[in-house]
Amino acid sequence: MTNSAGRRQPGRAVASSVIPAVMAILAGVIVVGGAAWALGSGGPDRDAPVVINNTAVPPLPTLDPRRIADGETLYAQSCAACHGAELRGAPNWKQRLPGGALPPPPHDDTGHTWHHPDSLLLSIVTSGGDPAYNGVMPGFGATLSPDQITAVLDFIKSRWSRDHREFQWWMTVTTQADQP
Ligand code: HEC
Repeated sequence: MTNSAGRRQPGRAVASSVIPAVMAILAGVIVVGGAAWALGSGGPDRDAPVVINNTAVPPLPTLDPRRIADGETLYAQSCAACHGAELRGAPNWKQRLPGGALPPPPHDDTGHTWHHPDSLLLSIVTSGGDPAYNGVMPGFGATLSPDQITAVLDFIKSRWSRDHREFQWWMTVTTQADQP
């Protein structure tokens, strides 16, 4: 009896000195982690290189407001009928239609346009959907110039969160670097 009581005492003493130390370490982790998070999510350090998978690419380019405005007009004329004025796409855009075609996907953060590098986006908008599965996305190579197409893409990019823009920029740079 006395033994077990005697053993508990030092146990408590250890616990009471260890707990504040653990709390102090945790507080330190939270402060340092918070600072890193603020930098990573583009707080004060907007001109830093974008680093994903340990691969750094140059800082995210700033979009030109005039090109965004031009792109918005072109988007309303050529794309909104299918992809929606608010870029939300069709409600069941992931479900193929009976003929195999996909409904128009969203172009905002909820879609996957931001997963693709510029080279792929340009080729989809220029040449249209994949005929292999009856894609109904028309090609705009004959009606829009390459400059107009990139303006539409700049408008679409202007609607993405910074994280998604950085990811798409990183994809664009690293995909180009991979090409022979
Ligand atoms: C007639 C309807 C229609 C119009 C108009 C249209 N699209 Fe599409 N778009 C689609 C459909 C449907 C898809 C799904 C893939 C497919 O069918 O090829 C798609 C796919 C895309 C994709 C691929 C997205 C992804 O996540 O893979 C991009 C980018 C795109 N469209 C951009 C545009 C732009 C920019 C315009 C205007 C210049 C436009 N689309 C006009 C129907 C349309």
